[in-house]
Amino acid sequence: MKQIRIFRRYDESHPPSFVEIEKWLLDVNDILEFDLFRSEGKFSEKILFWSKNTIIDTEIKTEIDQMRALYIRQSDLPLYNLFVDKIVQAVARNEHIPIIKKAAVIYRQASVILDEMFENPEELENVPKSKKVVNTFVDTIFSDSYAIESMIKITAYDYYTHTHSINVCIYSLSLGSFLELNAITLEELGMSALLHDLGKSRVDSKITNKKGHLTDSEFEEMKHHPLYGHTIALKIGIRDNRILDGIRHHHEKLDGSGYPDGLMGKNITLFARIIGVCDVFDAISTKRSYKDSMSSYDTLMLMKKTMQHHLDMEIVDAFIRMQQHDDILSAV
Ligand SMILES: [Fe+2]
Repeated sequence: MKQIRIFRRYDESHPPSFVEIEKWLLDVNDILEFDLFRSEGKFSEKILFWSKNTIIDTEIKTEIDQMRALYIRQSDLPLYNLFVDKIVQAVARNEHIPIIKKAAVIYRQASVILDEMFENPEELENVPKSKKVVNTFVDTIFSDSYAIESMIKITAYDYYTHTHSINVCIYSLSLGSFLELNAITLEELGMSALLHDLGKSRVDSKITNKKGHLTDSEFEEMKHHPLYGHTIALKIGIRDNRILDGIRHHHEKLDGSGYPDGLMGKNITLFARIIGVCDVFDAISTKRSYKDSMSSYDTLMLMKKTMQHHLDMEIVDAFIRMQQHDDILSAV
């Protein structure tokens, strides 16, 4: 028989933190390295439900399925992230899991990896890690015809630090798939998009975290990030020119007024043009603490009206068609 014990009340000044987990990820025969808690009563007291290192049998799995929510200690989050990391690719390929659930867990896992990556940008492990993130996204996109719509919906969440890189990766992959790029090209585009702002890790965090407009000198420093990113990508062993180029040139503009190399028109490669459009789209449409968000439609119309000398309008138009296509899909 399983043992359930009441979890003690905590000192109000030092309340323990608990986080809700994706309980549907737990399966029969799993042995977890973290305790599971349920919530009870008016004060949502957390009660130990299942101890770590104890196998989950069918009876417990049924109970878990019937529960409203399941929690772990905040301090166990790294262990939970490791658990999710092991199963995330299988989750992406599983056709029986609803796409919106899939998208949420994949997005969260990518956020964890991106946070680690920005913490230690020159780690060689970053290449296989980002490949895994991109492959998981690509698998998800190919596993379900609603995937793109769901992945884009999920970019509306703003829980984590490096959501921008993930959002740009999701938009770029969605666009690339809409433009019928082949799987290998898509994976390379995804890598380039995911890593496009890695160079910001070398810019003073006072500048990268500043809310609102940058001063001229701050902007000059910020403008170095594509070159820094290119250098870091080389350092961690990325040799594919298309990936490197997307990182270095995502701020180039069609009229030559961009940076760092002042490239013009079609001298800016397809990857850089796609990432450039997705970068601007996410910056305008995502709600940040210092500004309100704008709808996807209004964002794309604003880009079309005011940025024709900067952005590739064929790509902006493809983005508009893709959104309309998704609207049709969601209405079915
Ligand atoms: Fe950038």
